[in-house]
Formats: sequence, structure tokens, C-alpha cells
Amino acid sequence: MDSPQEEKSKMSKHIVQHTYTVTKEQRNVLNRHRSFLVWFTGLSGSGKSTIANALEQELHRRNIRTYSLDGDNIRKGINKDLSFSPKDRTENIRRIAEVANLLIEAGVVVLAAFVSPYRIDRENIKSIVGNDNFVEVYVNTSIEECERRDVKGLYKKARAGEITNFTGINAPYESPLDPDVEITTENSSIENSVETIVKVIEKKLKL
Ligand code: ADX
Repeated sequence: MDSPQEEKSKMSKHIVQHTYTVTKEQRNVLNRHRSFLVWFTGLSGSGKSTIANALEQELHRRNIRTYSLDGDNIRKGINKDLSFSPKDRTENIRRIAEVANLLIEAGVVVLAAFVSPYRIDRENIKSIVGNDNFVEVYVNTSIEECERRDVKGLYKKARAGEITNFTGINAPYESPLDPDVEITTENSSIENSVETIVKVIEKKLKL
């Protein structure tokens, strides 16, 4: 009998891609902007989703087609079978990148806010969506500040030993070495952060 791995590779061998005649480029022309992925990485409670949400509002105001992905709509649905073990986090990020890739093909600017603590997983996103379609935003808020804010009460639980593998407490966070944008939320307002990101992506939106 074949191993599950062999079974899978046999299956994909028999998948023949159909050539669709409406292309991403045509959708981009229809929308009057390019589509790509803006990826927010940072500790839990760093402000990723807050900034992504404010950015989405601003882009929407500029008639840009957008969609946001975060733990709330992904970990409760498509990825509800995944834990926070290193292996499952890798799979979490891989699936999100594949979903983002489909949305990019559909002509949408995707905003994704995930802790994504491992550099290698974030590198893998690039190989899925393509280098040019990936903008990395590092939301750099110190662990002390995230723990002080503790919006969801999770740091307290992690300190009390109720959550294992909690990023920043008993699991690692590998900060980006060369992000496209770095936001230090402790000395930048949400409005300023949005402005900084818009400046970087403005050129990419143009056809
Ligand atoms: S990731 O590491 O796989 O990218 P993801 O962004 O999907 O994580 O989910 C992180 C969110 O799940 C955190 O903001 C927090 O609310 C919650 N969470 C629950 N358990 C953990 C944990 N062990 N480590 C980090 N976040 C956790």
C-alpha cells in the first residue's frame, strides 16, 4: 500500500489545470488597481488586526477592492483543525497563503493579520503568492507592552501555565530581518501607521 504522501503526489499528478480565459490582469484592469497581499506579523495583541482594519477602511474609501483575513475568520473555519504547535502553525500559514493567492487572482488586495512567528513560514508565503505580491508589515510592539495591554487576557493565562506554546512567553517569535514596513505602535498612532503603509503600497496599486 502507498504511504499517504505517495497517495497525495499521485493524486496531484492527475490534476490537469484548465486554462481560464479571464485573467487576473483583466480583473485588475476592471478594478483599476493591482492585487497583492499585505501581511501583518507581530505578537498577539501587538495591534495587527487594528491597523489592518484601519488600512482596509482607507483603501475601501479609495475604491480599492479588499478583503481581510485574521484568526477570527480563519482559525474558526478553514483551519479549525489546527493547534498552536510549530507544525500546525506552519500549516496554518501555508493554507492562509493559498487562500490569499486565490483572492489575489480574483483581483482583491488581501490584508492578512497573523502572528506567523517563524521566518521560514513567512518565506514560504512568498513562494506561494510570488515575491512581488507580498508586502511584509512588522507590527513591532514589545512583549512588555502586549502583556500590559493583554486585551484578550491570554498573557495572564499563559503566565499561569494555562496555555502552552504561547508566543512570546513559552514559544518563540522570530522578528522579520528586512520587512517592507515596520510599525512601532508604542510611538505611532493608528492614523500614522496607516499613512506609512499606504505610502509603501500606493505604487504597487497602480496599473
Ligand atoms: S499563528 O502563530 O499560527 O500565526 P494566529 O495568528 O493564527 O497564530 O493566531 C494567534 C491568535 O490566537 C492570538 O492572537 C491569540 O488570540 C490566540 N492564541 C491562542 N493560543 C495561542 C498561542 N499558544 N500562541 C499564540 N496565540 C494564541
